[in-house]
Order: sequence, then structure tokens, then C-alpha cells
Amino acid sequence: MHFLTIDDFDVNNKTILVRTDLNSPMDENNQIIDNIRLKRHSKTIKELSDKGAKVVVMSHQGRAGDSDLTRLNKHADLLSKHIGKNVKYIDDIFGTYAKESIKSLKKGEIILLENIRFHSEETQMKENQHNSHVVKELSPLIDYFVNDAFAAAHRAQVSLVGFSEVLPCFAGRVMQREFEILSKVSKKPDRPSLLAVGGSKIDDTMKVVKQLLKSESCDKIITSGLVGLVFLVADGKDIGDSTYATIVKKKADLQIPLAKRLLEEYKDKIELPVDLAICVNGNRVEIPVEKLPTDFPIFDIGEKTIEKYAPFIKKAATIIGNGPAGMFEKEGFDKGTKELLKEINKSNAYTVLGGGHLALAAEQMGFLEKVAHVSTGGGAYILYMAGEELPAVNALVNSAQNQTPLIMRLEEVKNGD
Ligand code: 3PG
Repeated sequence: MHFLTIDDFDVNNKTILVRTDLNSPMDENNQIIDNIRLKRHSKTIKELSDKGAKVVVMSHQGRAGDSDLTRLNKHADLLSKHIGKNVKYIDDIFGTYAKESIKSLKKGEIILLENIRFHSEETQMKENQHNSHVVKELSPLIDYFVNDAFAAAHRAQVSLVGFSEVLPCFAGRVMQREFEILSKVSKKPDRPSLLAVGGSKIDDTMKVVKQLLKSESCDKIITSGLVGLVFLVADGKDIGDSTYATIVKKKADLQIPLAKRLLEEYKDKIELPVDLAICVNGNRVEIPVEKLPTDFPIFDIGEKTIEKYAPFIKKAATIIGNGPAGMFEKEGFDKGTKELLKEINKSNAYTVLGGGHLALAAEQMGFLEKVAHVSTGGGAYILYMAGEELPAVNALVNSAQNQTPLIMRLEEVKNGD
């Protein structure tokens, strides 16, 4: 796997488009929460700016139809704070205002364009992404495309693969570091190896669960979050209409047949929650799985499940964790996530964690030091760990193959050969 990095280019006075993944968790008031993605991408942006580049930052936030699809003004404020330089928010993607703002950039200046997911082509255009409006309008103004968005590298979306077809491109520091670390862990995990999966991004997670079980590279899977609920439904439990409606809204019901098949084939490897925390008038109430169905929404795993999962965490030599155990951002329902993290922090396993909320929880609890690596990625990270190819990384690698002769020629000119 070889791609070019910042070290291969002279960025001074060049206009650089940096695709980051600033997609951040939101609090109960729909405000974005500061997190490692913002902090780590800030370093790439700062390095480029300090080296004299004119930096145009691009990112997505949220998904169409979800409440976290927001503007990026708050992200610009947080980037400014971390970088120590003003990051100007431009509420436009490729219209006149965006283009004029790019053209008038001076050395070292930084702008952040509007949420790329406000533009429907971003997720809907499935091929020839270089023919999209955003690529056609912006690429004439850009010298280099930097892909730093490791966390979105599993999406073949316009801004992640389209620019690399028409512009010289290289990886930012976040992308580079994730690969250096994750490629080492993914090759041969020490056994027993434990996958701790939660969160609500079911389709990515189910792919990984299936792949790791099939390849026999995982000895135990502990499930929580919406993933755990899908497995409970697959196991014949009636979780109640309110939570089932959430499953349908997230299209997680489509994964129930696969969950059933996996349970039939690998029953001894997949562990399911034995109790759950429901939200009764805003309060946490725990009920055993036998007491299902419930009319109240299920927001977390319960204490008995934490007790059940703790010995697996203790025994593991490698832990791959992804996604929170419950509604971490909702007061009273962060218990499952925090208690499992405490167990992970106590264990001597080589641990890699990912997924925005889980990484945030680990950061808030001061556990980042002990963990071998906290990935900025959620789906991208576990898919990569399960051996899947990531389209945005393939785009970087292909681009490197085309650019290597050019870089070598530039080096020769520089060295006077
Ligand atoms: C993530 O949070 O996993 C990435 O930002 C990708 O987001 P998506 O799952 O909405 O494409």
C-alpha cells in the first residue's frame, strides 16, 4: 500500500484542497462536541498553512435526513482554536462566493467550505465522480488535493475519490498515521482477539462481524448499542415498537436476516446483552431481556450485561472496539460505554478503539494514553481491520502510481541531475 504524503511535495504558495472528516458527535442541544477528529485534522491543516500553503478545507457532517446534518460554522471556530490561526467559514461549496474566496487566499490563510453533504451529488453520484459539479468548478483553482479523511475512506463519494482523478494528490498526516498503525495491528492479532461492537452504523458493523467470523480472526464478539438490539431481534426477542421503529428508521432491520444466519453458525462466539436500560420519563431504568417487550425506548445496556462482558475483556490479548454501548450523549445512558471502557482500560490487551462517540468517551475519561491507538475512523477503521478495501485509499494509491514518475522527475530537476 503506497501513497504519497506531504513530504513528497513543496506546498509553499500552492492552493491546497484538504478533504478532512470533521463529522462530529452532537450533544443533546444539537451542538457539535469537540473531539479527536477536529484536533488531529488541525495538525495537518496547521502544517500546510505553516509551510506557506493557501488551505481550503472541506468536510461532511451528518447524513441527509438526520438532525446532525448541520452547517460547519462551529467546526471552523473549533479548528481556529486548535490551530491558533483564523479558519474562515465560507457558507458555500462551489458557487461564486466559494470560488472568489479561494482565489483571494494568501499564503498561510485557511478557509473551511460548507458541509459537502448539502450537495446531493456528493452521496448520489456513483461513478465518474470527476465529472461532478464540485470537482469541475473547484479543481481549476486548486494545485493539490490532500485526502486526510481516513474516517470517510470507506465511502466512494465525490469529494473523496473525484478530485484525485484530475489533480495531483497525496495523503495528509491523519490518513498517513492511521495506516502506519492500523496496518500493523490488522495483520496478525494476538489471541484471544475480542471485537466489541456497539453504535448505530449497522451495515458497516455487520460486514465486519461477518468477515471476522468467516476468516476466523476473531474469538469473541460482544455486542451492544443498536447492533446488540439487532442481534436480540434476530434471536427472537420482541424489543417493543418504539425501539423497533428506530431500527427501521436506521434501515437496521435489513440486517436482521444476516444476524440470524450468523447466530445460527457462530452462536458460541457472539454474545448478546442480558439486560437493557430503558428511558422512563427521562430516567434510566434497567430491565432483564426476559421482561421485553417494552413501550419505552432502549438507550443502553444494563449492569448485568457489563458483568457478563467484563471477563471476555479481561481474557483478551487484542481488543478491537467500535461504537458506544448506548446513547452516550444522553445523561444517564453513558454507563454501558463508560463501564466497558473502564474494563478495557484495566486489561493488558493491545487495544484499538474507533467510532466518534467511543473515541470521545475514551478521551473524556482520560484513557487515550493507555490505549494503543484511537482511530479517527468508525466504519472505515473496522472495515479496514476486517480486510476490506477502502475506495478513497485506492484512489490515493492509484494517483501515486501515476504521479511517481513526475515526482522523480521533479526530484531530478531539484538535484540538478
Ligand atoms: C463516520 O463518522 O464514520 C464517517 O464520518 C463517515 O460517515 P457516514 O457513515 O455518514 O458516511
